Amino acid sequence: NTQKLWGGRFTGETDTLMHLYNASLPYDWKMYKADLEGTKVYTSGLQKLGLLTEDELSKIHYGLNEIKREWDEEKFERHPNDEDIHTANERRLGEIIGRDIAGKVHTGRSRNDQCVTDLRIYCRDTVNEKLLPDLKELVNVMIKRAEREIDYLMPGYTHLQRAQPIRWSHWLSSYATYFTEDLKRLKQVLERFNKSPLGAGALAGHPYGIDREFLAKELGFDGVIGNSLVAVSDRDFVVELMFWGTLFMNHISRFAEDLVIYSTAEFGFIKLSDAYSTGSSLMPQKKNADSLELLRGKSGRVFGDLTGFLMSLKGIPSTYDKDMQEDKESLFDCLTTVEHSILIATGVISTLSVENKKMAEALTMDMLATDLADYLVRKGVPFRETHHISGECVSKAENLGLSGIDKLTIEQYKLIDPRFEADLFDTFNFEQSVERRDATGGTAKSAILKQLSALQAEL
Ligand code: ARG
Repeated sequence: NTQKLWGGRFTGETDTLMHLYNASLPYDWKMYKADLEGTKVYTSGLQKLGLLTEDELSKIHYGLNEIKREWDEEKFERHPNDEDIHTANERRLGEIIGRDIAGKVHTGRSRNDQCVTDLRIYCRDTVNEKLLPDLKELVNVMIKRAEREIDYLMPGYTHLQRAQPIRWSHWLSSYATYFTEDLKRLKQVLERFNKSPLGAGALAGHPYGIDREFLAKELGFDGVIGNSLVAVSDRDFVVELMFWGTLFMNHISRFAEDLVIYSTAEFGFIKLSDAYSTGSSLMPQKKNADSLELLRGKSGRVFGDLTGFLMSLKGIPSTYDKDMQEDKESLFDCLTTVEHSILIATGVISTLSVENKKMAEALTMDMLATDLADYLVRKGVPFRETHHISGECVSKAENLGLSGIDKLTIEQYKLIDPRFEADLFDTFNFEQSVERRDATGGTAKSAILKQLSALQAEL
C-alpha cells in the first residue's frame, strides 16, 4: 500500500483479492487516450496558474505523448500495483520524466473529476466516431434498397395475420424511420452530456481557481457542469446512453424478428446471405438465421446493462462513491454490443436477397376486403355499413369454398347488396390497392419516395 499513489496514511497491505476486486484497469484502460488528453489540458491549466513552469509543462506533455505511443502500439507495461488507467498513466509518467515533475500533475485534481471527465470524452468519441456514422450507413443502405425494390408488393400484417398489401419498401422505410429517430435521439443525448466536470476537485471545487471554462473548451466540451458536487457524482449520462442503447436494440430486435419470420420456408420472402447464416452440426440441410437471432437476443443483454447499473446507482449518497466504478463495464458492454449490432444489421440488409415472387404469391384476395368496403363508400354508403357488407362477401366466398372474394359472380354480389355493380371487380388489384394509399406516410410509390427523401434529408 505504501507504494500506491494514495499510500501515505497506510501501514498495512491490501488484501490480494481486494486489490483485484477494486482495480478497474482491466476495463478502463480503454479510456487511455481521453485520460492522457485530459491530463495534457489540465496541466496547461496549472501552468497558466503559475503552478508549473513552461519547461515542466513541456516535459509533461512529452511524457504523455510517449505514453500514448506505448498504448497505441500495445507496448504499455502494466504494473501489478496499477489500480486504474489514471494511476497507471501517472505512474508511467513518473518513470519517463521523473517523479519530481510528474508528482505535480495531480495538483488540485482528484480521480473523482478525472475519471468522469475521461468517461465523458470516451463516450463522445464513441458516439461521433462510431455510433453516428454507423447508424447513418445502416439507414443509407435501407434507403437505397427501398428505392431499388419499390415495385415489390408483400402482405402487411397486423396480429401477424395478413392484413393489407404494402410495398416491401414501405417495410424498409418503417425501420429506416425508427433508426433515424435513434440517430436524432443520440445526438440529443450527446448534446446534454458533453459538459466538463474537470476542475471540480474531489467534490468541493478547485483550491487554486483553475479556469474551468478553458479546460472545457480545450477538451471539446460545450461548457462546464456548474456544481462541483454534481460534476463528480452525476452519472445520468451513462444511464441515458444505455437507455438509448436499449431502445435502439428494441427496434433492432423487432426488425430482426420480422426478418426471421420472412426467412422461414413457410414465408420465403427473403434469403439471408451465407455471410450472415450458420449451419447445424447435426442436420446437413440447415441454414439458420443466427445473425438475426443474435440481434434479437442481444437486446436483452443491453437492457440488463441499463437496469443493472440503475440498481447500483440507486441510493448512493452524494457525491463520489466506489459503486460508481460499476458504470464502465455496463456502459462499455452496451456500447460495444450496440455498435456490433448496427454493423451486423447493415451487413444483413445489404446482402439478403428478396424473393419478390414469393411475396406476391402470399397476397390473397381477402386482403382487399377493405378496398371492397371502400368501393361502396365511394357510392355513398356509410363505412360501418360497407364494412359489414364486405364481411358478408368474405364469408359467402368462404362458405362456397371459393378461393377468394373475386370468384363470386356479380349476381351473387347483387344478392348481398344491390348497389354492387360490375365495376366492383376492378377492386381486385393489389397494385391499385397500394397506389390508392398515397396520403402522407402511406404505401403508394409516391408516398414512400417522399418518406425516403425526408429520411435522407435528416441524415
Ligand atoms: N477507478 C475509479 C472509477 O472508475 C476512479 C477513482 C475513484 N476515486 C476514488 N477516490 N476512489 O470510478
